[in-house]
Amino acid sequence: MKVYPSLMAADFGNLAACVSVLDTLADVGGYHLDVMDNHFVPNFTFGPLVAGALQKYVTKPFEAHLMVQNPLQHFDQCAQNGVAHVFTHIENTPDISDACAKARGCGMGYGLVINPETPFGQAREYLCAIDSLLVMTVNPGFCGQIFMNELLPKIDEALYYRSTRNPLLRIVVDGGVNAETAPALHKRGVEEVVVGSYMFKDISLPDAHRYKARIRSLYS
Ligand code: DX5
Ligand code: ZN
Repeated sequence: MKVYPSLMAADFGNLAACVSVLDTLADVGGYHLDVMDNHFVPNFTFGPLVAGALQKYVTKPFEAHLMVQNPLQHFDQCAQNGVAHVFTHIENTPDISDACAKARGCGMGYGLVINPETPFGQAREYLCAIDSLLVMTVNPGFCGQIFMNELLPKIDEALYYRSTRNPLLRIVVDGGVNAETAPALHKRGVEEVVVGSYMFKDISLPDAHRYKARIRSLYS
């Protein structure tokens, strides 16, 4: 499994040191940026400028999970700051084909996000034409929430779709992933997970050994 640490859960005062260390770990696929504007979700975080500021410390890609009103308005700024992939929610993206075309036009990949209450079937028709599906396993807005086990059948539907219809589609699971919840994902064939609080909890000074141990514990 590739791990995408959610920087929202890291110590903001040490972000540069943190990504420099994470960048040395083979299992880290890139960096997940939870962009929140306090409208689509009841929380504020940061914008794509953070990717721009951290770019010089990393070789792996930044991926922006846009939990904002009018997400397409921010694609240009994401691209200008070196974001490689943007995710927008099906719940607030009126024209998904347009969103995908705009992201690609800016040189980025495009992924669709589905909230816990949104059935897989609502996303199905778009999945042959986009790059990824991000399945939320908590309600968006905050780190440290409990993984919703009842969503495992939805993840199975997504994995089945990928294996039968579009093997290039990335399936990413986001929310509440930790040593207890990851084995069920690994067993099912999930290859990419976002890990926030479990990755960074009680590690304020970046430490490659401790990060590695946390990642290793996801497989056991
Ligand atoms: C929630 C975010 C997640 C979150 C993950 O709105 O989309 O990416 O930061 O954090 P954990 O792993 O703590 O659930
Ligand atoms: Zn996220």
